[in-house]
Amino acid sequence: MSITHIVMDSSPDQTRKRNQNQTLAQKSLFLYFSFLFFLLFFSSSHHSFYSHTSLQPSAFATPYSTTTKLPVSLYVHDRILFPDHVLLTLSNPQVFPPHKLHCLYYILINNPALSNPVYDVLVRPVLSTDRYDEFRSIARCPLPSRNFSAVELSWRDGDNDNQPFRFPVKPTAQHSFDMLAYEVALDNDTAVIFVKGLNLRPHKISNASLLRCHFGPQNGAFWFTTKAVAAAQEVVRCELPQSIQNNPHKARGISATVSHVRDEAMIPSVAKIGGYREEINRGNKKKNKLELCACTMVWNQARAMKEWVMYHAWLGVEKWFIYDNNSDDEIDHVVRELEVKGYNINRVAWPWIKSQEAGFSHCSLRAKEECKWVGFFDVDEFFYFNEMRRNALISIVGNLSNSIAEIRTGCLNFGPSGLRTHPRNGVSVGYTCRLRTPERHKSIIRPDLLHVSLLNVVHHFELKEGFRSLNMPQSVAVINHYKYQIWEIFKAKFFRRVATYVVDWKEDANIGSKDRAPGLGTEAIEPRDWRLRFCEVWDTRLRDFLLSSFADRETGLLPWERSSE
Ligand SMILES: *[C@@H]1O[C@H](CO)[C@@H](O)[C@H](O)[C@H]1NC(C)=O
Ligand SMILES: *[C@@H]1O[C@H](CO)[C@@H](O)[C@H](O)[C@H]1NC(C)=O
Ligand SMILES: *[C@@H]1O[C@H](CO)[C@@H](O)[C@H](O)[C@H]1NC(C)=O
Ligand SMILES: *[C@@H]1O[C@H](CO)[C@@H](O)[C@H](O)[C@H]1NC(C)=O
Ligand SMILES: *[C@@H]1O[C@H](CO)[C@@H](O)[C@H](O)[C@H]1NC(C)=O
Repeated sequence: MSITHIVMDSSPDQTRKRNQNQTLAQKSLFLYFSFLFFLLFFSSSHHSFYSHTSLQPSAFATPYSTTTKLPVSLYVHDRILFPDHVLLTLSNPQVFPPHKLHCLYYILINNPALSNPVYDVLVRPVLSTDRYDEFRSIARCPLPSRNFSAVELSWRDGDNDNQPFRFPVKPTAQHSFDMLAYEVALDNDTAVIFVKGLNLRPHKISNASLLRCHFGPQNGAFWFTTKAVAAAQEVVRCELPQSIQNNPHKARGISATVSHVRDEAMIPSVAKIGGYREEINRGNKKKNKLELCACTMVWNQARAMKEWVMYHAWLGVEKWFIYDNNSDDEIDHVVRELEVKGYNINRVAWPWIKSQEAGFSHCSLRAKEECKWVGFFDVDEFFYFNEMRRNALISIVGNLSNSIAEIRTGCLNFGPSGLRTHPRNGVSVGYTCRLRTPERHKSIIRPDLLHVSLLNVVHHFELKEGFRSLNMPQSVAVINHYKYQIWEIFKAKFFRRVATYVVDWKEDANIGSKDRAPGLGTEAIEPRDWRLRFCEVWDTRLRDFLLSSFADRETGLLPWERSSE
C-alpha cells in the first residue's frame, strides 16, 4: 500500500476547504489511490505552502463547512482496540450510515515539535455504525496495520461529498479492551462500574475493600475517590461522591473508573454516567412495575426473534431487553417491526465482547426499575407448559411466595430433526426431535433481590441473603432449546458464540465442554449425518399446540409468518 504525507496545520483556511470539497465531489473515497489523486490536486494548488505532496487538514475544533448536514460537534471520543476491530465512540448520539464515514489511519513520521508535523495516512471503509447511549454513537473500523496506530474518522455528506478532514490536535490514546472501565450504571445511591482488567477471581464474590472507585474529572480537573462496596468478576459497585448523590443531574457525562488499592493506578475509562434516560430519571420511580420482562443477548438472531417475542408475549412476557452484540443482520428492522406491532421491546447496543455475564448484570439493573421479574434466556429457547394457556408463565411468577427470588427451568436440547433448511414457519414448529434428558437450566429472577455484587455465572444469579430459588418441576414446564439447528445456522452460532465461557469452538481447547456438540471435533465441516444427530425422542408437543391454536384457519400461517411489509 502506498503512503501519502499529510501535514497538519492548526489554522484553518476556508478556501482550502472548499477546494477539498470540490475535489471530493468528483469521486468516491473508498480506494486509497483516489485519495492520492485528491492530494495531488490539492497540493498542486497550494505549492506556496509546502515543498512536497501534502495536505493541510482543518484543525480538530474547526466547524465544518455550512454545506454539510453533519453536526458540527461530531468527533471521536475514544478508540477501543478489540481483537478484530477498533471501536470508536462518537460524540453524537445520532447514527450515521456507514457509507458516510471513513476510517483514517495515520502515523506521525517526523518530529511533532516541528511547526508542520507530517503524517502518513491510509483510508478504509467503516465496518458498521450503531447507536449507543444518550451521548454517543459508535463506529467500527478495521484494525490498523502495524505502523498505523491511530484511527480517526472522516465523513462526507450524501449530496455534495463534503469531505472535511480533521485530525486531533492532540491524538487521544487508544484503549485496549483488556484494561478498561467500559460502562457505568447508577443504582439508587451507588454506581455500578463494568470493568475489564481487574483480574478478580472468576465465579466468585471478591473483597471490595481492595478496590477504590474514581469519578471525574470534575470541573475538568480533579477526581473524587470513593469506596467500593461490592465486587465480582467485571462488576464493581461503588459509593457515589456526596456531590453526585445530592444532585444526580450533575453526574451526567462524568467518567467513572476503578483502581486497586495497592497500586493506585486508575484503569482507563470510557464509562460515562447517565447514558440512559431511565437512570437520569431514577428519582421518579414508576408505581406499577411490570410483572415479567426478559433479557437476552443476541448476535445475528433476527431470524427467530419475531417468533420468540410473539410466543412469549402470549405466555405473559411484557417487555424485552435485547442486548445486541454487534449483529449485522436485520435485527434492528425486526425489533422496529415488533415495536410497531405494539410490543414493548428495547434493543441495547452491547459492543463489549466476552462480557455476557456483565451484560446480564447490566440488564438486571435496567430492568429493576420497571420489572418485578426478569427472565434470562436465549432467542432459541422456548418455554413449554404441560398445560398450555395464555399467560401461563406470568401467572406462575405472579403466584410465588415472597421468599423466592429465582425460578430455574430445565432445558431440553433439540437436534436438526432431519431438516436440511431453516423451517420457514419457525424453529418451534420445525424442530421436533431432541435428546432425552434435560441439561442445564435457565433462570427467571427478581432483580431487586439479587446479591449486591450482581454476580452471575452461566445464567444463574447470586441472591440476597434470605432468599432462595425454586426448580420448576419438569411436569409443569420445560424449555425447548433449539440448540443444534441445521448445519449452516449451528456453524455460525458456534463460530461466533455469544456465551463467554466457551473458547472459539474451532480451537482444540475445552473439547469436553458441554457447550460443544458432542463428537463434533474441531472442524467446521458438516458431519455427514448432522441432520440425524441429537435425536433420541420425537417431541412434537409444542409444534402440535402451535399448529392447532396459533395458525390462521384460512391460510395456515403462524402469527410470525405474516409479514408486515
Ligand atoms: C512499518 O514498520 C516496520 C517496522 O517498524 C518497518 O520496517 C516498515 O518499513 C514500516 N512500513 C512503512 C510503510 O512505514
Ligand atoms: C436506596 O438507598 C437508601 C440509602 O442508602 C436506602 O435507605 C434505600 O433502601 C435504598 N433503596 C433501594 C431500593 O435499594
Ligand atoms: C478484605 O481485605 C481487607 C484489606 O486487605 C482485609 O482487612 C479484610 O479482612 C478482607 N476481607 C475478607 C472477607 O477477606
Ligand atoms: C460478541 O461478538 C464478538 C465478535 O464480534 C465475539 O468475540 C464475542 O464472543 C461475542 N459475545 C460476547 C458476549 O461478547
Ligand atoms: C395466579 O394464578 C392464577 C391461576 O393460575 C391466575 O389466574 C392469577 O392471575 C395468578 N396471579 C398472578 C398475580 O399472576
